[in-house]
Amino acid sequence: MRLPYERLRAELLSWFAQAGRQLPWRETRDPYRVWTAEVILQQTQIAQAEGYLGRFWGAFPTLEALARAPREAVLALWQGLGYYQRAHNLHRAAQVLLDMGGIPLSPWPEALATLQKVPGIGPYTARAILAFAGEAPLLPVDGNLVRVLSRLWGDATPATERKAYQAKADALPPAFTGRAVGFALMDLAQLVCKPRRPTCPACPLRSACQAYQQGQSEAFPVKAARAPRPTRFFRLLVYYTAEAVWLAERPAKGLWGGLWTPPLEELSEPPFRPADLRHEFTHFRMLAFAERLSEPPPHTQPIPWAELHRYGLPAPIRRYLTQLHTYFLKNFL
Ligand code: ADE
Repeated sequence: MRLPYERLRAELLSWFAQAGRQLPWRETRDPYRVWTAEVILQQTQIAQAEGYLGRFWGAFPTLEALARAPREAVLALWQGLGYYQRAHNLHRAAQVLLDMGGIPLSPWPEALATLQKVPGIGPYTARAILAFAGEAPLLPVDGNLVRVLSRLWGDATPATERKAYQAKADALPPAFTGRAVGFALMDLAQLVCKPRRPTCPACPLRSACQAYQQGQSEAFPVKAARAPRPTRFFRLLVYYTAEAVWLAERPAKGLWGGLWTPPLEELSEPPFRPADLRHEFTHFRMLAFAERLSEPPPHTQPIPWAELHRYGLPAPIRRYLTQLHTYFLKNFL
């Protein structure tokens, strides 16, 4: 879409100077920090991210520190962020990047191709590193940017077509790309161009915004019909005593990879009672039914209750076990 991008840049940046947010991870151009900030920001709200990032950079201040850290240490710090495959990928990627001699920034077209081959670094993260740490004329497109761009362009491509939006963003004139424009568009998405009730009269892009000109801001981005999330049923095999609970470390790949849980067995039919634990994954909803065993299940080991905080557990499992332990202490001791 041909728009007066030079002028839009000026208006956007002058809005940003007044209304933009100062966020700690924007003060650095260290590619390691830019990268890890983006990965953590994909997992959590801005308000929570600061705490996580502080702890993460405290524990692993450099690429080398992260690459050489034990996997358990990385997973332990990841607790509460969910989607543990990301933590594995982050750790693995640090090792790959260290072997490459560090995070490449230039020349950016080669660096873009290289970065996107690293496990866990996708089109968004690669562009964020190159535009925010380096000087690349790129605009990393996440879900928020899809919203802004679909409205600006009046583009009815469904929001799920992230690749299509990234390809169009890659073709933008350099004036409407890069670090300053990227930060400003992210803030515009959060503060003005909101999913519901965007405050278009306050928007520096409104004179060019196709959705706004049509009086249709909220109609974009267009949603694609989504398949309903299936429900899957699991048995949770729980064995515990006053001192310990018996857990197994899950295989690195797959559901809750690398985390510690009581053994889980998938059921084809749910028992006729309310579930003890439910959890929404991206592709399904889990309902788990706990069964208290009279002896330890195979392949588990006792983890003392007092040591549980040292282990990486999925948040809903930790919550469930903590409740169980509290109930037990109160009623049976
Ligand atoms: N600043 C830099 N990256 C960001 C992100 N992913 N979300 C919000 N602000 C940011």
